[in-house]
Amino acid sequence: MLVFGTRPEVIKMAPLIKELKKYPEDFKTTVCVTGQHREMLDQMLKVFDISPHYDLRIMDKVHDLYDLTALVLTGMRDVLAETNPDMVLVHGDTTTSATAALAAFYRQIPVGHVEAGLRTRNIYSPWPEEMNRQIIGRIATYHFAPSPQCRCNLLTEGIDDVKIVVTGNTVIDALKWVIDKINSSQEIRRGIYEELNKVGYDPSRLRNRKLVLITAHRRENFGEAFASICHAIKVLAQKYPDTDFVYPLHLNPNIRQTAYRLFGRVDDWLDNLFLIEPLSYLAFSLLMSESTVILTDSGGIQEEAPALGKPVLVTRETTERTEALGELVKLVGTDSDNIIHETSNILDNSLHHKFLLKHNSCYGDGYASARIVDYLRSLNSLL
Ligand code: UD1
Ligand code: UDP
Repeated sequence: MLVFGTRPEVIKMAPLIKELKKYPEDFKTTVCVTGQHREMLDQMLKVFDISPHYDLRIMDKVHDLYDLTALVLTGMRDVLAETNPDMVLVHGDTTTSATAALAAFYRQIPVGHVEAGLRTRNIYSPWPEEMNRQIIGRIATYHFAPSPQCRCNLLTEGIDDVKIVVTGNTVIDALKWVIDKINSSQEIRRGIYEELNKVGYDPSRLRNRKLVLITAHRRENFGEAFASICHAIKVLAQKYPDTDFVYPLHLNPNIRQTAYRLFGRVDDWLDNLFLIEPLSYLAFSLLMSESTVILTDSGGIQEEAPALGKPVLVTRETTERTEALGELVKLVGTDSDNIIHETSNILDNSLHHKFLLKHNSCYGDGYASARIVDYLRSLNSLL
């Protein structure tokens, strides 16, 4: 059984579901979503054509991390009692994942951790994700580490090497799939253009303008840090009128309310600043591949952008994704002057908006799910 509940988990678990389904004689694949996210989860389930067998539908009852944890734990108790799977697969570091792992542990069901071993070693950054993944690391029997660095992190914590498999990150499997899909037909591209127009961004602008793509949602950035990021965006949009600043807003009300307060009413926005609704993976990937620079505090985008050869400025004080740090990925923190300086550097030096740097494939080769499934099949053959 695969358990997940947020947007990035769908993106990163979808390739694994597809791969498991290739072997119906080996696996009965069951999908349980917690509904930690609702609209953003459903948007991605649709993209990947996944129909979950179970849906805990918790989001509307959640006010804080306590509700979230309690509702996933009790919800999973009932689902696991009914299905009694041989293994539970969780992903990454969300509260859905940590709690589903705990729920499986209470029934002594082995847990496989996909995207295991990422660490900052600072339990408040990212918060609560760093503790979530450490908890899963303690509970899990099988650790699917995306990189050799992640394997080393697990070994340092005393995890048995035999239970660690270095696989690459499944996000690169998803990215390859989506890029192939975007390039597969004019109709798909037309659908993406329609989606972009519908949310208020005319994609024909991309023909002769640079693009700065922005996302932000980290809990530890709420408040002053997020205000500082928004201030930097505003200053940059004024400084570079020939560049579009496109920011699909996360649905978290903490983010939206602050963003609307800081950027003002729609009529007040600069002509080159677009605060839009969250995009499907297709439309977002198209914008990633058209961008000059990406400004983000997201985990997944730090992995996708280098694979696309796109520079990323990470608006966080720490990162667990250190493999690509360097030419393509830079940790810039949340100080607005620094964000303005680093973004300006890239915008001033990029000759053309489709300017491509060397792709960095340190996060995967597109076969992570196949490696995980190979491993699971080898376990099956031992039974
Ligand atoms: C969550 C994860 C974070 C992950 C991120 C990916 C935790 C604690 N946080 O953070 O690790 O990086 O997802 O995006 O597990 N909301 C909606 N509709 C949606 C999604 C969210 O309305 O589709 C609103 C709801 O009011 C919800 C709130 O956003 O309560 C916060 O969602 P939550 O999952 O707690 O936090 P995220 O910031 O999304
Ligand atoms: N993403 C998307 N549409 C958007 C914003 C992001 O499809 O409007 C994708 C992005 O490509 C990446 C993932 O969502 O794969 C990142 O999700 P998020 O930033 O919410 O979570 P994190 O990666 O930080 O856990």
